[in-house]
Amino acid sequence: MVGLRINAERLLSRLDDFARLGATVGGGVNRPALGPEDRQARRLLADLGRARGFAVAQDAIANLFLLRSGGASGAPFLIGSHLDSQPTGGRFDGALGTLTAFEVLEALEDAGVATSMPIELVSWTNEEGSRFAPGAMGSQAFALGAIPEDWQAILARDGAPLTGELEATLAALADVPLRPLGQPIAGYLELHIEQGPSLEAAGIPIGAVTGVQGTRWLEVVMEGAVAHAGTTAATFRRDPVVAAVSAIHALSSVMAEDPEARLTVGRLEVTPGSVNTIAGRVAFSVDLRHRDLDRLVALEQTVRTACEAFASDNRCLCQITRTLDLPPVSFDERLVDLVEQAAGNLGKPVRRLTSGAFHDALFIARLAPAAMIFVPCRNGVSHSEAEYVEPEHVIAGAQTLLEATLLATGTSVIAPSRPSTR
Ligand code: HGY
Ligand code: MN
Ligand code: MN
Repeated sequence: MVGLRINAERLLSRLDDFARLGATVGGGVNRPALGPEDRQARRLLADLGRARGFAVAQDAIANLFLLRSGGASGAPFLIGSHLDSQPTGGRFDGALGTLTAFEVLEALEDAGVATSMPIELVSWTNEEGSRFAPGAMGSQAFALGAIPEDWQAILARDGAPLTGELEATLAALADVPLRPLGQPIAGYLELHIEQGPSLEAAGIPIGAVTGVQGTRWLEVVMEGAVAHAGTTAATFRRDPVVAAVSAIHALSSVMAEDPEARLTVGRLEVTPGSVNTIAGRVAFSVDLRHRDLDRLVALEQTVRTACEAFASDNRCLCQITRTLDLPPVSFDERLVDLVEQAAGNLGKPVRRLTSGAFHDALFIARLAPAAMIFVPCRNGVSHSEAEYVEPEHVIAGAQTLLEATLLATGTSVIAPSRPSTR
């Protein structure tokens, strides 16, 4: 496409504005899903969208939409990502894709471009799954067209009920009309940081993402007997800490045996947590990843077998619940090709790769053609306050998203009717 450019200065300034919402002293963001900072970000995005004349809407799971009709009607082409973050998250995970999507809408609006179909920004609710499990809640419910019944009982790590936080979040944008969950869409593109090292190591600014590896989350609870640390001999102990640590240690060899496997224990809680009391209960999370579904299934079984064995050895009870199950997915071949073509049109080197992290695009791929664009992040670091993206990669990513969106929607821009003014 000739000539249509994003406004780099405006985009970089937007990223700074949103990074202030939930800013942490370490230079990252803490914007838990459906919490106060997330609501501030939604409010800001809704106000920005309304100021540009986009139609702002939300659905029952609090996904936020900004529609630019571009003179067209019918099923929109969706672009976007998420605004919630990890507790010690980075400024770019999610926000980059959401704000570059907004910049795409603004660039089209500035130039007065008529598009062959409406283009709609979406900010998905609770992609991270950190405060409320499972992750990717907004895109899951959108793809299902309903909120799963068993989500009604979900509580946050801080005890807040999902239903209550959803109501409060929707009410915080009471001026934003509510619309039904799910709708026909023409396709979906999401720009995201790679959250891995390969693009940076190769010196390549654009990734054409071909798919997402599978993910499973397990919640393991081991229960023994609370007792006095000083008076209880080994033979009388039923210590879930010993059981849990032994199981976790046994599982630490999994990634050495299969370099494509990922196994992470990110959270471990000991109750009652007193220095001179043998714990009664240990709860810990297990995050499993693999690009091959059969291997992912086998990984889960390995975890279950190890936990049950070490719990039994220590005369503890063991309960394992799966809280997330995302099979590996391949993105739409035509859209992946268009991402490569878009990068090529801009003279940007591009490489195909699979995503190690899950994304909302994984669920939307069940509804319509979907694909993703990656840009490098410094040292591949993410889910950390040290997360960083070079401005040149932010700009290249946004321009590629614009170009790919124009290609995907069959919008030809001979020349902007109005130069980008803002
Ligand atoms: O956990 C993930 O893969 C995603 O970044 N939330
Ligand atoms: Mn993300
Ligand atoms: Mn993330």
